[in-house]
Amino acid sequence: MPETFDEATTLKRRTFVAASTAVAGLPLLTSDRLPASASTPTPADQLSTVRLTVNGEQRTAQVDNRTSLLDLLREHLDLPGTKKGCDQGACGACTVLVDDRRVNSCLILAVMAQDANVTTIEGLARGRGEQLHPLQQAFIDHDGLQCGYCTPGQVMSGVACIAEGHTGSRAEIREWMSGNLCRCGAYTNIVSAIEQTAKEA
Ligand code: FES
Ligand code: FES
Repeated sequence: MPETFDEATTLKRRTFVAASTAVAGLPLLTSDRLPASASTPTPADQLSTVRLTVNGEQRTAQVDNRTSLLDLLREHLDLPGTKKGCDQGACGACTVLVDDRRVNSCLILAVMAQDANVTTIEGLARGRGEQLHPLQQAFIDHDGLQCGYCTPGQVMSGVACIAEGHTGSRAEIREWMSGNLCRCGAYTNIVSAIEQTAKEA
């Protein structure tokens, strides 16, 4: 039983140091039983070279066979405009066009896009970003974004929605945009932006 404040403090410190050391030691004791980490180099026989056209440019990357198209774009081709929301096909934040069809890029493997023509949000504006795509401008005009995280996916999906002709009414737009979620709830203005762009097109 400590009798003074100093003794009590010293004991607490010793207890803390002992506990910290024990916790810190755990990984050392168990690391040989842990599965290989994500940073373990991929064996050569599990790598593929993917060649595809992205935003009009020929691109090539060597990737682990399990790499999604989303990770290829963001991590290997330096195109972070396409967002990762759920990484499991539920939110639409990762929407890109593959051969002019909208896809959730988190749901397809990079190797499945071999020789494909991919358009991402970075490829929509012209003149190195100086001339926005009409739908990008309409999102600004109608205040179709708040935090903006879902916006690249909404815009890419909206471009496809217009090209597909699913813009006959606001209800139809809502239905065909229902795969793109917006946590900020900007839906009304997103529909207005698509509606305006479709009319002008
Ligand atoms: S990140 Fe692909 S659907 Fe959510
Ligand atoms: S604007 Fe924030 S999630 Fe859509």
